[in-house]
Amino acid sequence: MANSIIKHVSIIMDGNGRWAKERNMPRSYGHRKGIDAVKKIINASLVRQISSLTLFAFSSENWIRPSNEVKLLMTLFRESIINNMENLHENNIKVTFIGDLDKFDRTLKKYIYTLEELTKYNSGLELNFAVNYGGKWDIINAVNKAISTQDDLANKTINKDDIEKNLSFYKNHPDLMIRTAGEHRLSNFMLWQHAYTELYFTDTLWPDFDEEDFDTAIKFFHNKTRKFGGLKSVKQIEQNEK
Ligand code: IPE
Ligand code: IPE
Ligand code: MG
Repeated sequence: MANSIIKHVSIIMDGNGRWAKERNMPRSYGHRKGIDAVKKIINASLVRQISSLTLFAFSSENWIRPSNEVKLLMTLFRESIINNMENLHENNIKVTFIGDLDKFDRTLKKYIYTLEELTKYNSGLELNFAVNYGGKWDIINAVNKAISTQDDLANKTINKDDIEKNLSFYKNHPDLMIRTAGEHRLSNFMLWQHAYTELYFTDTLWPDFDEEDFDTAIKFFHNKTRKFGGLKSVKQIEQNEK
């Protein structure tokens, strides 16, 4: 049974370091090449009319990497924003950054907010970059926000919807999650939001990931039957309700 349409794709872009190592090059070379793959997949998402694309670019745990690598990644984020700002806007893309932005330096934050501000009324692809993002952080943050809006805490408990509406995405959870570079783990990426996502893993290293690989992942999704705990596929349920 064919699946319902694919709206939101999330990607753990992994393997830049190994890609560079295979070529006896520094890890920074892999990260630079990784940016080309990001552009390729953003364009592919536009062409395929995906509504939302969420890319995991830097985890809340990645700070423990050697300081020169962290510094390089920050420089690349800044350069990428500056170099691609106009193009993203021209393509009607709405860019959002999810994660704890407080830890970034002032200059990077300035570019992040400028890009978000510039593109906030765009109605095309919703492009989300997860930076200094952790799924546990997201849930804790949501719980704290939910608590802070309760007038009478003593007489109320926090429910699922209280948390959901304060998470990075409200009712727009990924349909398909792709992880490159052969690891089969979430690495703290959207723990709540991936509860019913179809998970696709490939050995391809991120800098090599291209449109063809993207289509293979999308095909994998379309061959799945999503039942969300029930016995019928989502499509069957939709048809029966007509
Ligand atoms: C993913 O590639 C990019 C980031 C985490 C920023 P890696 O840097 O994790 O590459 P590998 O896993 O070491 O090959
Ligand atoms: C996950 O990759 C984070 C990003 C892709 C940004 P990692 O390379 O940090 O994950 P682990 O350490 O292998 O789990
Ligand atoms: Mg990695």
